[in-house]
Parts: sequence; C-alpha cells; structure tokens
Amino acid sequence: MHTIEQMKHHVSVRNYQKKAIPVEIKQELLLAAQSGSTSNFVQAYSIIEIGDQAKKRQLAEITKFSGHLNQAPLVYVFVADLYRHAAQLEKHHRDLAPLTNTESFVVSIVDATIAAQNMCVAAESLGLGICYIGGIRNDLFKVKELLNLPKLTVPLFALSIGYPNEKNDPKPRLPLNNLVSMDSYKIDEITNLANYDEQTSQYYQNRNSHQANITWTEKDLDFFSEVRRPEFARFLKEQGFDL
Ligand SMILES: Cc1cc2nc3c(=O)[nH]c(=O)nc-3n(C[C@H](O)[C@H](O)[C@H](O)COP(=O)(O)O)c2cc1C
Repeated sequence: MHTIEQMKHHVSVRNYQKKAIPVEIKQELLLAAQSGSTSNFVQAYSIIEIGDQAKKRQLAEITKFSGHLNQAPLVYVFVADLYRHAAQLEKHHRDLAPLTNTESFVVSIVDATIAAQNMCVAAESLGLGICYIGGIRNDLFKVKELLNLPKLTVPLFALSIGYPNEKNDPKPRLPLNNLVSMDSYKIDEITNLANYDEQTSQYYQNRNSHQANITWTEKDLDFFSEVRRPEFARFLKEQGFDL
C-alpha cells in the first residue's frame, strides 16, 4: 500500500498472533526508528526491548488496562534519555545545568517520540500492528527500578508490536478546520466541535466492537475529570531534572 494510504488506515492493535517477529525485521524497525530527525543531532533517547517474560508481565500489571502487553511478541520501552550526555559532560568536568532544564527535557521527549513514530510507520508498512502504551507511567518509580534507569532518564511509553489478530475500524480524526489555521490561531474554528461530536457519536455507535453512545467531547470531559499521575513532577525531580 502507498505510504500515505497506510498512514491514513492506522489503528492501534491490542490483539496479536503468537507469531514471533524475525530478528532481521526487528533490526529494520530499530534502524527506521533511529533514522528520524533529532534536535541538534543530540539523539536524546534510548530504546529498551523487553524480552524477559516476567518483566513484560510486571509492566502489563503497571498499565492496569493494557494486559495485551503480556501477549505482545515484541515490546519496546522508549526512554527520554539525557544520561548519555551527562556521562560525557561529567567525564569532561562540565556543568550539567544545560541538561537538566525544561528545554532539554522537552528535546528528549520529542526525540524519543519521533523515533517511536518512525518505528510505527515502518512496522505497519510490514503488515505489523502497533500500540503505544503510556500506561507504564502509572508507576514511574517501579519502571525505573525494573529497567535499571539512571538519572536524567524518563520512561515515556511502551510500544507493543505484532501480527494483528483483529483490527478496529479507524477512528475519525478531528476535521482539518478544527486542527489547522492559517497565519494565526482561529479560536472559533478550532473550538467548534459540533460536527466532530456528531461524527464520533456515529463512529462509536456503529463500530465493529465496544459500541457506545458517546461523543468525543463526552470522552474528553471524562478523561480530564481527574488530575492524572500527579507524582510525575516528583519523579522528574528525583531523576535530576530542575524544571
Ligand atoms: C503516547 C500514547 C500513549 C498511549 N497509551 C495507551 C495505553 O496505555 N493503552 C492503550 O490501550 N492505548 C494507548 N494508546 C493508544 C491510543 O489510545 C490510540 O492511539 C487512540 O485512542 C487513537 O486510536 P487509534 O490509534 O486506533 O487510531 C496510546 C497512544 C499514545 C500516542
């Protein structure tokens, strides 16, 4: 399939065949991931493959709702990573302040995410399914311990990859006029979600599984009805960030 068609047909996959992924394909996925753009060529991320079944199970438990992680043939954890830089700076007796500030933290998140999304597009081009799993951030301290993460690293999400057993219908994204403006931020266009709520309501009522009578706005209100993961700031502080 043409790359753009493939991207427009993306759906997260949470049910995989038991089929293993050949080592040559894993290699290609990793090379695709690391070929993405990276701020100032700093490459401020790491990728940890989870091969150990017990660790996979523990990560799945941390996510609470993403038990499929346990069955996924391939699992990577993407880590925002400034430790590699810290090791170099320390070796050369330099100040770490330029690494520990908010700007560097954002750089590492963006770099890790670009690499992950490159991997996703590559995986889907080979007929594989993927699912990001931010649920591992439910217990950052536990994940740090499990993966032996040093200072100035932050586990962002896991990525499960495998041959799909089943696929959902693609979810309709925001209409482009709710997403894109010309020359300045168009508040009215961006916030008028009536059409999108109608569209998403139809989607949730008619999709092939987990049907529901709900709109995007209702889902959003539900999602933001509580402060999520308030311990994140404490974790970042303990990891040596000064935000
Ligand atoms: C950073 C990130 C974290 C996510 N975390 C989870 C997760 O923990 N569990 C899960 O089932 N899906 C997770 N997802 C998948 C989203 O729910 C999914 O992409 C979204 O609902 C849109 O659906 P689609 O990917 O099928 O189009 C995550 C996606 C992203 C980008």
